[in-house]
Amino acid sequence: MSLPQPVWDLWIRLGHWLIVAGIMFQQISGENIDLVNIHATVGILLGGWVLFRVIWGFTGPYHARFASFPPPSPKTAAASLRRVLNKETEETVGHSAIGGLAVYLLITLLGLTALTGMASSDDIFFSGPLAPFVSANIIDLASRAHPILSKAVLVTVIIHVLAVLWHQFAMRERLIQGMITGLKPSFGSQTPAPHPFSKMILLRGFVIFSLCIGGTYGLFGIYLGW
Ligand code: HEM
Ligand code: HEM
Repeated sequence: MSLPQPVWDLWIRLGHWLIVAGIMFQQISGENIDLVNIHATVGILLGGWVLFRVIWGFTGPYHARFASFPPPSPKTAAASLRRVLNKETEETVGHSAIGGLAVYLLITLLGLTALTGMASSDDIFFSGPLAPFVSANIIDLASRAHPILSKAVLVTVIIHVLAVLWHQFAMRERLIQGMITGLKPSFGSQTPAPHPFSKMILLRGFVIFSLCIGGTYGLFGIYLGW
């Protein structure tokens, strides 16, 4: 084993637990027409998180960056999955190959779900903020795709949570504590720069997080409205 190392910065952790709450709310509110306005608002905020996570993937600390967990080849992903199923701990500090793949899938699905929600319209109760800018065919496609994508999000999230519980209880890796405290086993490696708990990352994350969430809400929620 090895001493814990700072891995997940505050913005990864805060964002993670906020999207957990947001997606749970979306699954409940999505089928209730009385909650459609708040559903759209929370969906736009989730879209803002997607924008943040993409930018943070290039500007955040080492383990948040996409370069530290490039999309794996099918062979690498399969080998990583086999190791997990065999309960062999992968000595990677940040995302494993298969974990990284799940991150790409979740970000893409959430982004597409938010976009199709914003382009949806039923011409009676609801017209998304992007609907006035796209053709009737695109609105129709988006309105049909949104429930399908939101179910794909749900299925991916269930697999993600089962995988985390497997690591936590069957493999005795303290991943959940890691997503709370930011600390994970270092496997003998040094914390790469920029340090995830540094003031610079805290401040940079604050600016990017606020601009992405506030900007997305300002543009789609207030300026374009619905
Ligand atoms: C709506 C539900 C959820 C979504 C959308 C979600 C999404 C994500 C994403 C995108 C990441 C990657 C973090 C990043 O690099 O930004 C992640 C990591 C993680 N999630 Fe979740 N998550 C969900 C629910 C949960 C729950 C309920 C738990 C706890 C039981 C959990 C535990 C974790 C842990 C421990 C990691 C870090 C894994 C590692 O150390 O490699 N997640 N999740
Ligand atoms: C990533 C974020 C989002 C998630 C996870 C999500 C999830 C869902 C779910 C689960 C449903 C129910 C589907 C069904 O009937 O089977 C739904 C419906 C809907 N969503 Fe979203 N949604 C998101 C974002 C948005 C956004 C941004 C908008 C609009 C701005 C939106 C507008 C709608 C509308 C209009 C419906 C249909 C409501 C109804 O017929 O009662 N969603 N969504």
